Amino acid sequence: MSEIHPENYSHLRNLMCECIAVHLPDDKAYLAEARLHSLAREYTQGDINALIEKACSDTGDELRCQLVEAMAINETYFFRDPIFNESFIDHMLPNLMKRRRSDKTLRIWSAACSTGQEPYSIALLLEEHFPELKDWDVQIIASDFSRQSLSKAQSGRYGLTEMNRGLPALLMAKHFEQIDLEWQVKPVIREKVEFQRINLIHDWPEALPQFDIVLLRNVLLYFSMADRMKVLHKVRSQCRDDGYLLLGAAENLEIASGFTPVQAGKCGRFYQPG
Ligand SMILES: C[S@@+](CC[C@H](N)C(=O)[O-])C[C@H]1O[C@@H](n2cnc3c(N)ncnc32)[C@H](O)[C@@H]1O
Repeated sequence: MSEIHPENYSHLRNLMCECIAVHLPDDKAYLAEARLHSLAREYTQGDINALIEKACSDTGDELRCQLVEAMAINETYFFRDPIFNESFIDHMLPNLMKRRRSDKTLRIWSAACSTGQEPYSIALLLEEHFPELKDWDVQIIASDFSRQSLSKAQSGRYGLTEMNRGLPALLMAKHFEQIDLEWQVKPVIREKVEFQRINLIHDWPEALPQFDIVLLRNVLLYFSMADRMKVLHKVRSQCRDDGYLLLGAAENLEIASGFTPVQAGKCGRFYQPG
């Protein structure tokens, strides 16, 4: 495997920043070498430096996209953050349902959904704990910039290692079917999630509804402060006044983001407009 030249790593970092606002640390060139290995084999006979140079050339549009997708951190798993799940079930959703009982609508957005475990976990929580939502108009939208992640998310197919990360055995048996060496979310749950390709730092589709809940977990931490603020202000305008924003366990909101923290059970990481 070829070693990446510092100037090419620097091009790659700029590319990530320009395309998806993600800042790669300056000491992670080895990560690029590992992640770009198979693209380099496909396009430049294993030469990673030639791959980056090709992608940065005028005609490298599609390759640039593939490079950025290959470099994006898409780590995720089912039912990430158990305290969140508990507070979601015991506090947030019951409160929201009380407030929405006349129009019976619920709009949820998983705004950096990676390979789908997050939105499917939400769909499973609703299915398992809120049977009364059956006659509500519930929409779960899940988006990511990455075509590769979205394609896997849409298929709802996972290998054993992914299934073993966070998914209780009972839910696996009830809501998944085995296909060869993989498991697929059953259609009745899959159909509850609508996938869209949205880059958080580009324009968002005009047809996006106003949301009751926005999950923006484990993505803003890779953005600069200025880009975080930009995205948060857009999320604020996409969120109903009494809706909720959820961040990842390691993320906190800066002041002036348009949201303030609210306590919901043991979890203090829910935010509401204000
Ligand atoms: C670490 S994963 C988090 C997945 C999930 N939210 C979770 O917490 O388990 C981060 C995701 O953000 C996506 N992402 C990064 N930059 C993005 C951008 N500018 N627009 C949309 N998605 C982005 C990546 O493709 C990746 O799927």
